[in-house]
Amino acid sequence: MNKDVIIALDFQSKEEVVAFLSQFPEPVYTKVGMELFYKEGPEIVKYLKQEGHKVFLDLKFHDIPNTVAGAVRSVASLDVDMMNVQAAGGVKMMEAGMEELKKQGKDALLISITMLTSTSAEILKNELLIDRPLDDTVLHYASNTKKAGLHGVVCSALEVPLIKSHLGAAFLTVTPGIRPKDAAIGDQVRVVTPAEARALGSDYIVVGRPITKAADPYAVYRAIRNDFLGLED
Ligand code: C5P
Repeated sequence: MNKDVIIALDFQSKEEVVAFLSQFPEPVYTKVGMELFYKEGPEIVKYLKQEGHKVFLDLKFHDIPNTVAGAVRSVASLDVDMMNVQAAGGVKMMEAGMEELKKQGKDALLISITMLTSTSAEILKNELLIDRPLDDTVLHYASNTKKAGLHGVVCSALEVPLIKSHLGAAFLTVTPGIRPKDAAIGDQVRVVTPAEARALGSDYIVVGRPITKAADPYAVYRAIRNDFLGLED
């Protein structure tokens, strides 16, 4: 299993991405989200791949099965390494995405978002009208994801032990909400350190601002990566 740190490129333009990555002497695993993709389009993914970086394209597809299959086909043609859907779209929708990915003959990872970490127990109950506890819902959506044949889920590192114990160690967990010990928490609520994420069993950690806003992004990236992988400096 290739555990790694994924850097969230939450920038508005290609220029900012180019300037940021020029500080890295080696290719890295990047995440391109809606903010950057809806501004720069597929060209930004092509650029990153040309430069040797890996790309998790985080567009969180959520539509009828046929449309999601079409979106997966489009994104697979960009040779991304990871893409995702919303588990709330249901098993058929996720199956349609997975079948399409296989049909395209790509070995990209397809994962789901179980519940957005911004969804509190209160929102679940009062807005989404789901009476079950948040943990049960996350686990049920993760289980639907496995049933549909996807590779894993995005979740909080704190949910990893529960998910792995029910769905197996090989079911991938990709975890944002990571902060090095001394970093600002920002708007994240439940955060863990890279070493804690390792101990909890995360396969990939997603880190944005602690690296993108650092005075020396590469040094911070190396420290986070070593901490997560349990390597010496
Ligand atoms: O800057 P920060 O490290 O908080 O960035 C985390 C990244 O992970 C952002 O791109 C954010 O959108 C994403 N993310 C998250 N929580 C989720 C899903 C994605 O923070 N549940």
